[in-house]
Amino acid sequence: LILIVGAGAIGQWLAALLRLRASEEVTLLVRPRQVELLRQGIFLGETPAHCTVVTELAAGAVFSDVIFAVKAYQVAAAASQVQAAGIVAERVWSFQNGVGGEPAVAAAFPNSWFGAMTTTVPVYIDGNRVLPGPKGGLAWSSAGEAGRAPAWLSQLGMACFAVGRVDSLKWSKLMLNLTCNASCALLDALPAQVVEHRRMFDFELECLREVLACLRKAGIPLVELPAYAVPQMAMLAPLPGFVVRRILGSKIKKARGDKPPSLLLDLRAGRSDSEVEVLNGAVVRLGAECGVPTPCNRWLYDALTSVVRGDVLWEQYQGQIDEVSRQALAARNGK
Ligand SMILES: NC(=O)c1ccc[n+]([C@@H]2O[C@H](COP(=O)([O-])OP(=O)(O)OC[C@H]3O[C@@H](n4cnc5c(N)ncnc54)[C@H](OP(=O)(O)O)[C@@H]3O)[C@@H](O)[C@H]2O)c1
Repeated sequence: LILIVGAGAIGQWLAALLRLRASEEVTLLVRPRQVELLRQGIFLGETPAHCTVVTELAAGAVFSDVIFAVKAYQVAAAASQVQAAGIVAERVWSFQNGVGGEPAVAAAFPNSWFGAMTTTVPVYIDGNRVLPGPKGGLAWSSAGEAGRAPAWLSQLGMACFAVGRVDSLKWSKLMLNLTCNASCALLDALPAQVVEHRRMFDFELECLREVLACLRKAGIPLVELPAYAVPQMAMLAPLPGFVVRRILGSKIKKARGDKPPSLLLDLRAGRSDSEVEVLNGAVVRLGAECGVPTPCNRWLYDALTSVVRGDVLWEQYQGQIDEVSRQALAARNGK
């Protein structure tokens, strides 16, 4: 019996995969506004997946797995909710992008085995219809005993990589989420627009190079993820900008050039929190820990955070790609 906390894109997708492919019993903890629709089933293709849909947890309920499928900035509240209900779980999973929240989730459930999980499949939803992208798979890692990992990991109908180190899993996924995410949010632009703007994309490459420098210094190896050779991507870094732009830029344009990235969607939805905290913010924190300067990630992090918090008007950045790229690169040069 598996509990999934949060029924957005990832929560609904995992619920459908676990129900339809691994024949697991799934309980979904959802928002009240979602109950009626989700009780009709979740559609991944034509067959509906039926789960137990609840807005409150029964005190002391026992689950084999609890999977947190909420945004990084929602995890602490969700974990407290599960804790307060006295839920007993053999394993607890965090599915958040970015780096930072995992130790707190693991610490909240000291008697459970803790795992981090991610996917390279982009997942969207339309009501109770799950719309996964065409390529990618799952990956997971745990500092706990590997033998305690569940059998369903291999029953979801797609590649599911076991990664030796949690930090390698998290930072390798962050490498895929970083580019054309915060900058698109700040500019209210699509990834293709950033890729096509030479100076703005050069700035994106500087952000990636900062991550690589931090990881080298911290001794965190990158790993391959389903359909994404992340370590090979890192090998592009020393090449001249125009070469990297051609290779990486065309990949980004093809895969997600016209799709608003997650940080932009959150800003458009008027959210007062942002996963920039666990993306560019995590780079800034790792840089500070290991003594590597990260001025580009710092600039993006500060600029987007000030917009998210309402300290600066979004209009000051929206559509201003020439001016923003000038300011951003000036930050790199310490001007
Ligand atoms: N979508 C992808 O392609 C993808 C791929 C890899 C990783 N991820 C990561 O996976 C995580 C989840 O992403 P997502 O796209 O599924 O986000 P999402 O669509 O925003 O889904 C989160 C859902 O959880 C709900 N929620 C939050 N706290 C809750 C609580 N305490 N009880 C019940 N429901 C709660 C949210 O409701 P409200 O909207 O009312 O807050 C929302 O419906 C993020 O960290 C994301 O970065 C996403």
